Amino acid sequence: MKRNEFISTLGIGLAAACVGCLAACSKSDDPGPTGGGGTTNPPPAAVSFTLDLNNEIKAVGETKTSGGVIIARIATGNVATSFSAVQVACTHEGTSINFSATQGRFVCPSHAATFTTSGAVINGPARINLKKYNVSITGSTLTVSG
Ligand code: FES
Repeated sequence: MKRNEFISTLGIGLAAACVGCLAACSKSDDPGPTGGGGTTNPPPAAVSFTLDLNNEIKAVGETKTSGGVIIARIATGNVATSFSAVQVACTHEGTSINFSATQGRFVCPSHAATFTTSGAVINGPARINLKKYNVSITGSTLTVSG
């Protein structure tokens, strides 16, 4: 093989290797159809359930999960603003989030994404806010809907 033929062959081989490498790299950096941090577990479209505040989530920081929604007591008092109800599936990859009373925010145990009590992303990798649900209280009955 002549020198020019060798270099030409080497160039084609190198180009093929680069194409393969770039294809592999683009997969790992692919932000996905939702711009990155997208969930494959969409929030429940409609929920409606009740809690008895005489028996459930009585202390700040306590939570209950039902129908794909996590409700957390974020303050004392049986008024709607003392509670936050959001989708339980993290918008990054769908792990069930927790509520941290010390941080006052929802935290994902998988990759540490954090969300406000309104569901807004504070820290990624999640980029999409949690869906927030309505909370109303009648007597000692709390209703989550939305
Ligand atoms: S699943 Fe990755 S941060 Fe929640």
